[in-house]
Amino acid sequence: MSKTISGFSKLSKTQKIDWIVNTYFADFENAKNILIQYWNSDEKLQQLHDEFIENTITNYYLPLGVAPNFSINNKIYTIPMAIEESSVVAAASKAAKFWMERGGFKTKVISTTKIGQVHFNYKGDKQKLKQFFKIVKPQLLIDAKSITQNMEKRGGGILDIELRNKTESLANYYQLHVSFETLDAMGANFINSCLEQFAKTLKTEALNFDLFSEEEKQIEIVMSILSNYVPECLVRAEVSCKVDDLTEKNIEGNAFAEKFVQAVNIAEVEPYRAVTHNKGIMNGIDAVVLATGNDFRAIEAGVHAYACKNGTYSSLSHAEIEDGVFTFWMEIPLALGTVGGLTGLHPLVKLALEMLGKPSAKELMQIVAVAGLAQNFAALRSLTTTGIQQGHMKMHLMNILNQFEATKTEKEILSKQFENQTVSHSAVVSAIKNLRSNH
Ligand code: MEV
Repeated sequence: MSKTISGFSKLSKTQKIDWIVNTYFADFENAKNILIQYWNSDEKLQQLHDEFIENTITNYYLPLGVAPNFSINNKIYTIPMAIEESSVVAAASKAAKFWMERGGFKTKVISTTKIGQVHFNYKGDKQKLKQFFKIVKPQLLIDAKSITQNMEKRGGGILDIELRNKTESLANYYQLHVSFETLDAMGANFINSCLEQFAKTLKTEALNFDLFSEEEKQIEIVMSILSNYVPECLVRAEVSCKVDDLTEKNIEGNAFAEKFVQAVNIAEVEPYRAVTHNKGIMNGIDAVVLATGNDFRAIEAGVHAYACKNGTYSSLSHAEIEDGVFTFWMEIPLALGTVGGLTGLHPLVKLALEMLGKPSAKELMQIVAVAGLAQNFAALRSLTTTGIQQGHMKMHLMNILNQFEATKTEKEILSKQFENQTVSHSAVVSAIKNLRSNH
């Protein structure tokens, strides 16, 4: 059977599934059953999900967990996290509790400006283009009025439009570099609509600009799109306490703080480590971004670009000990929304936002940054003390036991047994077999 098809998008959901299972699966009944198993019995809810994207055939579940006991600027939160990786939610909860007892997280939104660009080609006199831009700038704002007026009423809108000459990097290449304030909306639609309007105005007004030659009048728009690099949409999260207060049963505060700072310093200077270090931060960030219906790809792209802002990929977080006080902090760009997009559509996203007390975008930036910092703290704490595998292996053990449908008693016996034994798949399997044959 041909593995290609035309007109796939026109087929009904059932027809799509039939084609897929018949084309790609030996046991097509089983494949179909798995797909259908994940449909929601509530038809309206299912239709809602079907319509989020195109060619939907089923739902792909991710667990939604919660990490309680976060104190952020003295307000208590339980943070929802959608993530498939075990240990992340546990680590976040542990870090939350640890810092709750030491003053909690302190956060601050530094700036909220977002950027969009109209990329265009212009072949001609640069001075004339500058003159043209000066004249056309008010018109750009007037023509975008129908798009911007509601945002302006709420205090947001277009902050500035700059003409940028990029011809030293690429022949004939210029930009309208536009800054926006989009308040509680992530703002992608708003920004892109404004930019497309600017592009139209730019093109048509150039045709009427008398100083331009015929060739100069032919401004060529390449594209108009927001930027996911948002170094001016920045939030800071921090924890701090006396080094002595870091002391716990098997950990001496001063030694721990010094090793912790050393681990952060390594991530600051060594890109191989920085990537993994930042990945740990993104474990926390993405999970909350996803749970709150935001675009985690945009966040990832922007955050990693920010991690190289000085020319080398480096740690997003920083730590120091000064006068006996340990401080651990991070400043990251987060363009988030709490209105628009999925936030008003997805029932679980609405629930997650309500759990957080219906935050503004600014408040959500702070919560998300804290989730990232907490995750990073938990990872570094494990890595510099017990090692990461101890916790992971406990989860690994549970996963294997679940695969073997272990009973509660079996789980208890084997968890105890593996406290003093290295967890490996084969060791666990033989332990289950042994236990079962003895009973
Ligand atoms: C695993 O998902 C994340 C860590 O590797 C982060 C880190 O190494 O800092 C534990």
